[in-house]
Amino acid sequence: MAKMLIKNIKGLFQTGENLPHYKKGEQMDHDNMIENAFLAIEDDEIIAYGKMEDWGGIMDWRDLEVIDAEGKYVLPTFCDSHTHAVFAATREEEFEDRIKGLTYEEIALKGGGILNSAARLQEMDEDTLFEDALERIHELAKYGTGAIEIKSGYGLSVEGELKMLRVIKRLKAASPMAIKATFLGAHAFPVEFKENHQGYIDLIINEMLPKIAAEDLADYIDCFCERNYFTVEQMNTLLEAGAKYNLIPKVHVNQFSIMGGVKAAVEHGALSVDHLEELDEADIAALQGSDVMPTFLPGCSFFLSIPYGKARQVIAADLPLALASDYNPGSSPSGNMQLLTSIACTKMNMTPVETLNATTLNTAYAMGISNSHGSISVGKKANIMITHPISSLARIPYSFGENNIETVILNGKMFHTHKE
Ligand code: NIG
Ligand code: FE
Repeated sequence: MAKMLIKNIKGLFQTGENLPHYKKGEQMDHDNMIENAFLAIEDDEIIAYGKMEDWGGIMDWRDLEVIDAEGKYVLPTFCDSHTHAVFAATREEEFEDRIKGLTYEEIALKGGGILNSAARLQEMDEDTLFEDALERIHELAKYGTGAIEIKSGYGLSVEGELKMLRVIKRLKAASPMAIKATFLGAHAFPVEFKENHQGYIDLIINEMLPKIAAEDLADYIDCFCERNYFTVEQMNTLLEAGAKYNLIPKVHVNQFSIMGGVKAAVEHGALSVDHLEELDEADIAALQGSDVMPTFLPGCSFFLSIPYGKARQVIAADLPLALASDYNPGSSPSGNMQLLTSIACTKMNMTPVETLNATTLNTAYAMGISNSHGSISVGKKANIMITHPISSLARIPYSFGENNIETVILNGKMFHTHKE
């Protein structure tokens, strides 16, 4: 039995046995911190934590690995509840086109964007896609990401979507990170269906969904509900079809325009509604009284120079809020969750503690793993990260672009440690 004790922790963030499934409104600024703390792990689970003075006798010292965390903070690892981390190629040329004046939407209308990624993915074999993605997500784990949701959506054909989802299934088996798979066949209309949108929707419903269900390849279903992409009516049809296979929705809505997708997703029992760069009172009203997690993707706002989510308005409405990376080659080519907390503080006026709640407990909820991840609680998975010695927790968002995480432990095992 592997036992580990982390002692002399300067601050142990996000602790508790009766924490809510997610924090909302004023709770978003609660750190549930224990100062001068210990954390005890057995195998892959957290078995105890508390003040250093209460440590005595909880574990015997034989065969115990001890880590001294003096001057360091310990947190649950980040959960990244929205990514497109399986892709074939980066898209720097579109980045340069945008610098020269084209918009993301204009590039997409010319056949770039998602269709560009789909063409590249079609050329790449499954093994290479898998190896690249594994390396990519393990790089993110060094920055503290311990759980990640990954979407399909660059396949856009029966074979392409199945290939992506099989890659995600292999990642689940190969990585100690917690991984959830989301089927995003409705990411864009492929060229062959440019004039026949209904034909593509029929393909998703009649060909893709049954095969995905038969191979048990997806946990969630997504749809890019946006002008030039999928209408609210098309999304409704797709989510109803997904529900027949018990696929809960997590959807892309309100990135560029407000079309009523938020309310529709709430009515379909979505777990989260993501993007929300545009958000109005009716959307907020639709979210109130629901358990749907509004999720902002500040990396996308930063990279595409589009509006940031109105975090203060959402929190003031006593709603919860999650922050995810949207890691993808087009609109957010970074999965660094620490950097996200910086952007959310500086551009969305969130407090450091709010951003850390929004990237741990609340994203664990948004990917359906809050029973096992997202907080320091007895019985939860020992997915934790230890900072370098730092003056306060606010140092994580403050020193933007830096890696403040020294050690990452996944499922009770040392995953990475970085000593100066
Ligand atoms: O969440 N908006 C839709 N999908 C992705 C971008 C995909 C891409 O550009 O490749 C997003 O931003
Ligand atoms: Fe996305």
